[in-house]
Amino acid sequence: MSVIKKVLISRDELNEKVKELGNKISMEYEGKDLIMVGVLKGGFIFLADLIRELKIPVEIDFISVSSYGSSSKSSGVVRIIKDIDVSITNKHVIIVEDIIDTGLTLKYLKEMLYTRGPLDVKIIAALDKPSRRKVDIDIDYKGFTIPDEFVVGYGLDYASKYRNLPDVCILNEEIYKS
Ligand code: XMP
Ligand code: MG
Repeated sequence: MSVIKKVLISRDELNEKVKELGNKISMEYEGKDLIMVGVLKGGFIFLADLIRELKIPVEIDFISVSSYGSSSKSSGVVRIIKDIDVSITNKHVIIVEDIIDTGLTLKYLKEMLYTRGPLDVKIIAALDKPSRRKVDIDIDYKGFTIPDEFVVGYGLDYASKYRNLPDVCILNEEIYKS
């Protein structure tokens, strides 16, 4: 039995979209002081692909967060496990996420980064699952909108595995039982 039930978004589709987003950001941030902040761990592959499609200088850093309490009764408060090391004061910031689900993580992160005096803070997400949104959040740059399915690959994990799959996939139900 294959671990993958279905490929939802292929590596070719992802590549094409990342190129498109890279071109768009290159035009919009030309001549601006840009820093991209990848949200660990899921955002690292998308960030790595994206910055190689940029035609402008960019600084990168990473932030690692975890939700307080169980995800089923998320308070929207996240704990910073690893903060960025650089100053974002007077810079343009783009937060790079793998997927936006309830939106709680990104809403918190965006507000937190705004307290540090950046020129602005925008959001890019490879995937958007709008059916589960709990808070209003603007996604400035988006890869794909997906249905309410749990997905893995392209940085996304199930039980810390499958981040390395090059496509965005839906796992076979058997995986969750074992
Ligand atoms: P929010 O705060 O928007 O958080 O609910 C988004 C985070 O939830 C995780 N997430 C997923 N992870 N497959 C995953 O591997 C999924 O389908 C999925 N949906 C949500 C992910 O960590 C993301 O950063
Ligand atoms: Mg994540």
